Amino acid sequence: MRKNIVAGNWKMNTTVAEGVELAKNVNEALKGVTPNCDVIIGVPFTHLTSVNAVIDSNKLGLGAENCADKKSGAYTGEVSASMVASTGAKYVILGHSERRQYYGETVETLKEKTLLALENGLTPIFCIGEVLSERENGTYFDVVKNQIEKSLFDLSAEDFGKIILAYEPVWAIGTGKTASDDQAEEIHAYIRSLVETKYGKEVAENTSILYGGSCKPTNAKALFSKPNVDGGLIGGAALNAESFMGIVTAF
Ligand code: 13P
Repeated sequence: MRKNIVAGNWKMNTTVAEGVELAKNVNEALKGVTPNCDVIIGVPFTHLTSVNAVIDSNKLGLGAENCADKKSGAYTGEVSASMVASTGAKYVILGHSERRQYYGETVETLKEKTLLALENGLTPIFCIGEVLSERENGTYFDVVKNQIEKSLFDLSAEDFGKIILAYEPVWAIGTGKTASDDQAEEIHAYIRSLVETKYGKEVAENTSILYGGSCKPTNAKALFSKPNVDGGLIGGAALNAESFMGIVTAF
């Protein structure tokens, strides 16, 4: 059966020292508790090695927030999937709406990033989701379908089975506005049906689909109680160990 997962996405926050402190606090809070979910933190590239050194990887997974769409070479400023893997990280967040919106990431570049992440043994946490106008005009089903089909549906069933999906409605990210649990369930069930049509029931049932967008300790329980919501990708509330743990323990 699929895993429940709570993953933090720290975005462009914290210095290395602050990040190490936050990671230590989360790691400490996980000691002596057995959460009903896997717990992951996605941190800036600069933090990966130092954070990896202070966490118990059996209890807390480590991920990057992006990787390059090229293997290696003359790509100044880029960080490859193999570099990420060499830090000890096991996950990589790909296709976050902020990367699509501000850094021009496309379904094609995300397809390349996904392949390179998988080649290097990283588990992609692949983000999809619509903007407000697409929610309002009802095209959000087509938007997520296109994002998944164009970037992921050329993968073999075996490789697709390694992907974690994260549905993040752009209008709910950092806005304090959350999709209702029914809105989340509706689209998560649709996403799972797309996976089932392409890869069959077993792969679909085993795919974890996380919700992201103003998820907090106060609303996590209701969201996670929905049958197709398998956890959360957490931004703001992941920057504090106590609130992050409040979401982890919502399972
Ligand atoms: P917030 O939890 O801050 O809304 O961010 C969600 C997100 O973008 C996680 O990737």
